[in-house]
Amino acid sequence: MNKSSMAQGDEGEERWHHGINPSFQEADFFIFGKLINNMQKKRVLSGIRATGRLHLGNYLGAVKGMLALQNDPDYETYYMVADLHSINTPYEPKELAKQTREVILDYLAAGIDPQKSTIFIQSQISEHVELSYLFSTVISVARTFHLPTYKEKVKLQPENVNMALLYYPILMAADILIYKANAVPVGDDQLPHLEIAREVTRKMNSKYGLDFPEPEQFKTKGHKIPSLLGEGKMSKSVEGSYINLTDDLKTIKEKLAKVPTDEGKGDKVPTRGGVATLLSLVDLFEGEKRKEEYEKAYLNSGIHYKDLKEKLAEVIHEELVPIQKKRSFFEKDMNKVDRILVEGAEKARKTAKTTLAEVRKAMGIA
Ligand code: TRP
Repeated sequence: MNKSSMAQGDEGEERWHHGINPSFQEADFFIFGKLINNMQKKRVLSGIRATGRLHLGNYLGAVKGMLALQNDPDYETYYMVADLHSINTPYEPKELAKQTREVILDYLAAGIDPQKSTIFIQSQISEHVELSYLFSTVISVARTFHLPTYKEKVKLQPENVNMALLYYPILMAADILIYKANAVPVGDDQLPHLEIAREVTRKMNSKYGLDFPEPEQFKTKGHKIPSLLGEGKMSKSVEGSYINLTDDLKTIKEKLAKVPTDEGKGDKVPTRGGVATLLSLVDLFEGEKRKEEYEKAYLNSGIHYKDLKEKLAEVIHEELVPIQKKRSFFEKDMNKVDRILVEGAEKARKTAKTTLAEVRKAMGIA
């Protein structure tokens, strides 16, 4: 470095320190810095079907992970309500828009923050559907036929096996990849679907030279929430299996009271059934230590389920009260909610359009 350039550099730095450079304001640097930051951030996409109010399984399995990533500055988060994924099983058209908003309200109530996350409704970004059609060209029919969720639906509702049901994971892959998301906070029940998205990624990248990242599950401690009935997972479609985020203390107590139990002691702590469900809820809401105490009691003096259930109901309710308060705040201001959705859709659409254009070009679509 020669003397004159050093002098110039020093002078430049001097000016910067005194803040007198007229063309570069601090704000410019701030925006520029943020831009660079956003380019390096990892993306997150998650969604929940529009089945009305959320339950504890959604909250622990998905929403908690969504919150954790939203509050991590390394991530840029997109959270939607998957209303298009709700119409592949019988539904009430007059109710759908309301059901969709119920989920949005629960997101906001739980702390999904429009300042930090892009919140939107899936069907408002029609690019998802177009991309999913393009993706459907790289996944075989046989592959989708073998998905556990599809097979389950065929068994449970044989009269309602429509094309959209088969298409479910392809649309989900488009939901994720259109934002080039790396991380997907979802419960374990969604893993087979995520696997399809990863397969789409590999195929699209190798066939068309695209640069989709392979999305991965972001796991929370509650990635697997068992049903209150003691069998299967907590699910909106199984009556009596779930606790809603909007349930009051009395309702929670009544629901827990119905969880099937045993005589409260034995030489092996059950790993399935109602008792296992209760213990995993204790673990999640009262901590691992408390759960271990109950497990010890089971092997020795025995558990009094009535006491366990009362206490558990109270602790669950305590965690839900602030969520419920926040919900009623937003319920009273639906205009605000609508504004959040308009802004969210605008932002999401911008990213979605960019990705779709890239894929169309790579696939030779004019
Ligand atoms: N299939 C998810 C569910 O049933 C909802 C969903 C749709 C989703 N698209 C998604 C989840 C994309 C994560 C990412 O809850």
